[in-house]
This record gives sequence, C-alpha cells and structure tokens, in this order.
Amino acid sequence: MQLPAHGSNTKYVYDSLGMKQPEQIIDFSVNTNPLGAPEVLREKWDEWFDVINDYPDPYANNLMEQLAVQENIPVTHLLAGNGAAEIITLIARYLTGSRVAVIHPAFSEYATACENEDCEVIPIVLSEPDWNLDAAALENQLQGVKAVFLCNPNNPTGMHYQRETVEAFMEICKKTNTLCIIDEAFYDFLPEPVTYIKTVLHQEHVLIIRSLTKMYSIAGLRLGFLAGNPALLQKISKSKPHWSVNALAMKAGIACLQDKAHVAETRKFIEAERAVIFQKLEELGFEYSLSRLNFYLLRDPALPVQKRLFQYLLKQGLVLRHTENFPGIEGKRLRVAVKQPEANKKLLEALTVWKQEN
Ligand SMILES: Cc1ncc(COP(=O)(O)O)c(C=O)c1O
Repeated sequence: MQLPAHGSNTKYVYDSLGMKQPEQIIDFSVNTNPLGAPEVLREKWDEWFDVINDYPDPYANNLMEQLAVQENIPVTHLLAGNGAAEIITLIARYLTGSRVAVIHPAFSEYATACENEDCEVIPIVLSEPDWNLDAAALENQLQGVKAVFLCNPNNPTGMHYQRETVEAFMEICKKTNTLCIIDEAFYDFLPEPVTYIKTVLHQEHVLIIRSLTKMYSIAGLRLGFLAGNPALLQKISKSKPHWSVNALAMKAGIACLQDKAHVAETRKFIEAERAVIFQKLEELGFEYSLSRLNFYLLRDPALPVQKRLFQYLLKQGLVLRHTENFPGIEGKRLRVAVKQPEANKKLLEALTVWKQEN
C-alpha cells in the first residue's frame, strides 16, 4: 500500500507502513488552523439545525454576496465550491485533454485532477532550498500550454513569491495565452496577507482559488471558492453538481467571515509559535523552510531522505506529512504543521532525543 496522497486521516499512514497506530497521536500532517474553528460555530450549531431539512441554495448567494463585499469585487466574479478541492476538479474538467503545467513544489491535487481528465501535465520543478521562480525563464515552457497552476503562498514550503515575481508570471502567461491559476488557499495566514484576487477584474486569463477550510478549520464541512471573469466561471461551473455546497457550510462560512478577531488572533499566535519552533530547530541543527505560514518543511541534514526520522516519530504518535508526492522534494524533507504549544513542545522534545541518539 502506498503512502496516502494527503495529510490528515492518519490511520492510512500507519496502515500503508504496516504499523499500528498508537492510542494517542498528534497530527502534524494536517495544516488547518491550530486554534480550531471560531467559537461562534459551536454557539450557533443548534440554531442552524433546521437548514438540513431543505436543499441548499445552489449558488450560495448569501455567502458569495458577503465574500464580494469582503474582497471588494462583484459577486458575478465568484463561484462557490465544496472546498477548494472541488474547484480544482471543476477547473480540471474544463481543461479536459489539454496541456497543463504545474509549478512545483505544489499541492498534489492540481496534477492528479488534471491527469484524471486526460490532460498532459507538465511539471515545472523549482530548485530547493529557495524554490525561486524566474518568471521570464518560463516563457518557452509555457508555449502551447493551456493552463498553469501556481500555489502561492506555497504548500508545502510555506513560503510565498514576491509581488514582482507573481506579476511577471501573470504577464508571461498572458503572452503565451496560458490560463494563470493561482491557489491562495493559505494567503490569510501570512502576517501581512497579499492577494491577487482583484486581478480577475481586468485580466481574463487569471483565476484565483481560495479555501475557507484552512483558516477557519472547517475541513470537515468543505468550503472554498473561485474568482475569475464571469464568462469563464460559467464554463467552469458547467460540471458542478447542483447542490455541491451544503447548507451548514454556507451558514458557517458567513459566520466565519464575520469573525475578524479569530483571524487576527491566529496570525499572531502562529507567528509567535513558529519563532519559538524555529529557534529550537536551529539549536538542534535541523534545517527548515523560511515559512510565513502555519506549516514548514523540516530536514535533518544528516539524512538524504527523512524516512527513518518519519517512522521514528510515527512510533511515538507524532504524525508528520511525508513529501514523497511533492516533485522536487520527494522525501528529502517532512512537512510539519504549527500546532498548540504543548504539541509543538512534544515534537521538539522528540527531535532533541533523536539528535542525541543519531
Ligand atoms: C494549496 C491547497 N489548495 C487547496 C486545498 C484544498 O482545500 P479544501 O479543504 O478547501 O478543499 C488544499 C488542501 O490541503 C491545499 O493545500
């Protein structure tokens, strides 16, 4: 059995390695908000119960209206999805049979979804440890490519590309007549969030993917959206199941968007916690990616691939995210979520012992 393609659902990691999952585990492989969902969801949950009796609004209008105000773009430029994952699938269906490129390292679903739709997927692999993107150098590679995916801020590195780079990338895509798809699922974790969503108002070749499941820790509810020009959104939405976004997700989404304090608190918490973690990793002699998000890449420079460290931690119930299916990284690093201080401390203690023993 192969290692699972995604984080979370830790049982599958243990099963794939023929290991027994310990009673107590800490899941560092899932990169949702360590502070959890906004408290308002718990408070309102019972009140929302009745919405499950009826079919949800197929266009998620109330939610989209609120997003339109928040993002300051017309609602006609937005499409709701059952998580960003559904949005990626819809885009892939729209691209069926085309040549598509993915800038790696990146979330694995772009390639998987496009391959499932018989696309020819061209990997463009950036070099570690900086993963710099030289937009101008891509012009040749993007000739004849219908669409390209860029994950910014980046999963798995936690880093983000500079504004000049992203703007140059969008320009090159325009020149080569390539649809430029930027996934901003984690943009709101940046200490100073940068978004390119407004570009869709004047650039028809740009699509921006967003998720609400990360910042608001509602991965089990599923909620995301796509921003783009209305004619293109209409084509992309053709294969969308009519009621794909459920009514509880809509209620929760609206409440989440109103909770600005939760977002501010999350950013502050993560920045402080990440600084503590990085300092300790430095002391212990581990390498880490210069992440500005709620996860980072970890590497013991003594190991060419991190499998032994991965399994050592799994035995103790500390589940990190393998990187076997991230082209360009392929096991040379492990992805780790920033969790609550107690959990982070446990991991750092385990890493301390690892270094003493190895
Ligand atoms: C970069 C990126 N985009 C999109 C998704 C999918 O998010 P959602 O939970 O909204 O489907 C993920 C999930 O891990 C992700 O890492």
